[in-house]
Amino acid sequence: TKCELHKYRKNAVPGEGNIENGIMIIGEAPGYNEDLKGRPFVGKAGKLLDKLIEGIGLKREDFFITNVVKCRPPGNRKPKEEEIEICCSLYLDKQIELIKPKVIVCLGNVSSVYIFKKFGLKFTSMNKEHGKVYSISSLEIKTKIISTYHPAAVLRNASLMPLVKSDWEKIKEAIG
Ligand code: URA
Repeated sequence: TKCELHKYRKNAVPGEGNIENGIMIIGEAPGYNEDLKGRPFVGKAGKLLDKLIEGIGLKREDFFITNVVKCRPPGNRKPKEEEIEICCSLYLDKQIELIKPKVIVCLGNVSSVYIFKKFGLKFTSMNKEHGKVYSISSLEIKTKIISTYHPAAVLRNASLMPLVKSDWEKIKEAIG
């Protein structure tokens, strides 16, 4: 209840999945279906995400899947800067601290901008950054960060599909 978004939610969507493997997928915010079920990526974009994961021979249960903000913004608007700051400082930052991911997959701009900044990188644009692997090594964490287009963007623009598939091949390599 630390930000406005809790007022509109049916359920908070904290995230779910494997916390041992150290592979995180971070989306933007819950949508309609996620809010109903309290689970991340269970709508149309989630179905496509499942396919992309299966395409590299893995299962969604191999990952920890979450979002930048844990409550659905009304009408699926973009989360506001202050909502992101409050929510991430309480939840996403803590999840990263606990899971200590070896690989972080950022889905879409909102997630990429937040994660790049957190790790001292500059996110220019998805066109330039998608599929690039950045290795971060500090006292606290050793991780690889990769951005790709949000599955919802691929549903809106099917011509992104080949790029996204090749990004997921790079994600597979980074996971090793
Ligand atoms: N889009 C997101 O960014 N996250 C979800 O959980 C669902 C759709």
